[in-house]
Amino acid sequence: MDMMLTDSKIHNETRQGEAFAPFEQDSNIYTKRFYIESYGCQMNFSDSEIVASILQNEGFGATRNFEEADLVLLNTCSIREKAEQTVRKRLQAFRQVKQQRPGMLIGVLGCMAERLKSKLLEEEKLVDMVVGPDAYRTLPGLIEEAETGQKAVNVLLSREETYADISPVRLGSNGVTAFISIMRGCNNMCSFCVVPFTRGRERSRDAHSIIQEARDLYEQGFREVTLLGQNVDSYYWHDENTNKPVTFAMLLEMVALVHPNLRIRFSTSHPKDITDDVLFTMAKYENICNYIHLPVQSGNTRILQIMNRTYTREWYMSKVDRIREIIPDCGISSDIIAGFCSETEEEHQDTLSIMDYSRYDYSYMFFYSERPGTLAARRYPDDVPLDVKKRRLQEIVDKQYHLSLVSNQQDVGKTFKVLIEGESKKSEDEWMGRNSQNKVIVFPKDNTNLQPGSYAWVKVHQCNKATLIGTRIDQPE
Ligand code: 5AD
Ligand code: SF4
Repeated sequence: MDMMLTDSKIHNETRQGEAFAPFEQDSNIYTKRFYIESYGCQMNFSDSEIVASILQNEGFGATRNFEEADLVLLNTCSIREKAEQTVRKRLQAFRQVKQQRPGMLIGVLGCMAERLKSKLLEEEKLVDMVVGPDAYRTLPGLIEEAETGQKAVNVLLSREETYADISPVRLGSNGVTAFISIMRGCNNMCSFCVVPFTRGRERSRDAHSIIQEARDLYEQGFREVTLLGQNVDSYYWHDENTNKPVTFAMLLEMVALVHPNLRIRFSTSHPKDITDDVLFTMAKYENICNYIHLPVQSGNTRILQIMNRTYTREWYMSKVDRIREIIPDCGISSDIIAGFCSETEEEHQDTLSIMDYSRYDYSYMFFYSERPGTLAARRYPDDVPLDVKKRRLQEIVDKQYHLSLVSNQQDVGKTFKVLIEGESKKSEDEWMGRNSQNKVIVFPKDNTNLQPGSYAWVKVHQCNKATLIGTRIDQPE
């Protein structure tokens, strides 16, 4: 519980700070070593895989141990103040190692780069390189500059960069699930959000390169891809060969057709942009997972308006109705912010009641954290006291725990097709996988030839709020 309150389990940060070493076995090929740690959203993890690819071409192999690295990189997040503080602490730890190994270079990548470049480089002398999310192609040149003792900086944002031609090196991979970045940036300007400033304008990646990446992954044995973007429903790419546009619904269909055994997920959807076309495409293809991450942020229309979310409470509710109409067994999850500027108790109650209405299977819950430069920081005082924010967040967290438990209890007795991702954390005698709705299912290994990447049919007989527990059965008729 406390974990939520201190805001540490933040959006998709279950792998926060993880360091990766994909190719340690090839240790002879590389003359230098890099170490990378990623924070924040899935997009940052995906970007680290692009960075790894660029570095490998420069002769850098990965290491899991930063103390032996020639280049130490932190891919940073700015979304809340807490995320920034964590990164600072890490940088101080790296700095200490550098005192023993002066040749080591330390670089900051990602969303903190633009905002804090002069502070990190000059005032605090914490880092040697600062590289923004659209400047990773210039890393080789920046490394050279930094090696000669210059401060190397590139935080330019681009209107075109999508890294479409770079094949990501899959870091820390389970060999079954992978991310594919389909667009970058965001044009939405939600008033609380720093992303449009740190990641720049929205742009969509060449559809053919996306399909090719999905094909390659399937051939390498991957069985699930998650199409990533800040706002995937506004994906729009003009195909010059056919002179026709490709929308997100069309892209989904194209990826679904790569192979029926390749599962497709996507994230994140904006409630104002997700179309019936997308929902019908999901319903049409069994391998497009029945799961939508549909952040509500608040259940109150006035708050939504000052958040600049451009939908009302009723609009959001009718979107949920539409999803349940077209995809009856669809899993829905959300992002929720407690204590946004000027939020009253009544308005907070609206958030709790929309959670009941939407019956979220899962939510990422935060209290509002003012970010410098955002519309809200300029326009609205951050006037809900911290203890009130925390209490409201706790009520939201308690509500979600209850909803998750009820949702899981309703699955007891049902049978699901599960994609096995690996062994369960608790026991090597059990498999762990997910159903289409993105719920984690564990079940005992039996004497079959299952392995990570296999599909299994599992009947659920028990649950807690986080996991379904079942047994394997033969494929139902
Ligand atoms: N304060 C708290 N939460 C925020 N988020 C984005 N900006 C802020 C902020 N300033 C949350 C939103 C978003 C998720 C990725 O992070 O809920 O959907
Ligand atoms: Fe931020 Fe809103 Fe864009 Fe999401 S849609 S990245 S919350 S501005």
